[in-house]
Amino acid sequence: MSDLLRLLGDGRFHSGEELGAALGVSRSAVWKCLQRLEAEYGIAFFKVPGKGYRLAEPLSLLSQEACSVALRRFGWQLYFRDSLDSTNAEALRLLQSGAATPFVVLAEGQTGGRGRRGRVWASPYAQNLYYTLALKVANGPQGLSGLSLVVGLAVLHALRRAGVGGAGLKWPNDVYAGGRKIAGILLELTGDPADVCHVIVGIGINVNMGPDSVDVGQPWASVRGEVGAVADRNELAVFVSESLHQYLGRHAREGFSSLRAEWEANNIWQGKRCTLSTGTRQVKGTMVGIDEQGALRLLVDGQGEQRFSGGELSLRLDHDS
Ligand code: BTN
Repeated sequence: MSDLLRLLGDGRFHSGEELGAALGVSRSAVWKCLQRLEAEYGIAFFKVPGKGYRLAEPLSLLSQEACSVALRRFGWQLYFRDSLDSTNAEALRLLQSGAATPFVVLAEGQTGGRGRRGRVWASPYAQNLYYTLALKVANGPQGLSGLSLVVGLAVLHALRRAGVGGAGLKWPNDVYAGGRKIAGILLELTGDPADVCHVIVGIGINVNMGPDSVDVGQPWASVRGEVGAVADRNELAVFVSESLHQYLGRHAREGFSSLRAEWEANNIWQGKRCTLSTGTRQVKGTMVGIDEQGALRLLVDGQGEQRFSGGELSLRLDHDS
């Protein structure tokens, strides 16, 4: 299927005959494949008698070659997949089967994209970035301290390089643009967090997804929407990798405290009135910032400053803020 999309990727009309000949299949097999792409993956085509087929929207497909060349510079192995359940799940399977770290899993689409707090991450085929980096962390809690916030900084930096100007960070590790979420990060751990463990760093970035593409369930932004043009997903994957390499390197050498000020400078809710949901209760207060481990510092109404950390927490902005 991705071969057919690659042929159509030039945005021009191609006859069924021509496509069939290039792929070594019949015209009716081409037609069936196009129908499947439309029905299952939401990729729309124009069908014009006498001219053939053309993509209704320009598409930026991933290039395994371009991405693996970029990753090789850092000694990161690439596992490229067309469509799979989740790049995080695949990274866990690869670790279980003994794959050497660091490695990256990159996919055109996910059928079971995982979000934070058990949510689903919308992952339409060939539209966004679904990227997982698997790393070994050998220095216990110190190596994990603030790690997810540092990944947020790396993604923010990559998005700025891609031309997304008004982006910022929302604690703990969402990236927002124009008040809506543009990227999410899901860290998963295997092994002993007190000693040697592996961290699965899952990154989802809304890149070219259109407004009618999928139901995301919350306001969202995309690179395409912010920049005003279809974004090159290969370029963005390379920017993300370079940025991760730079920021994670600094985190490993100097610890989170060296990046804390930079994180706070990009915090979109610094000094704003917020409500924190802990799962069992709602805590209202003013966001003061973060501490040297990346925990949230909240000036809780009537109680003074309190610190919060943990994957199940979620912060939202109060309307009067
Ligand atoms: C969030 O809820 O904000 C986190 C979303 C993380 C989504 C990414 S997409 C790549 C990787 N694979 C997954 O299944 N999830 C993460």
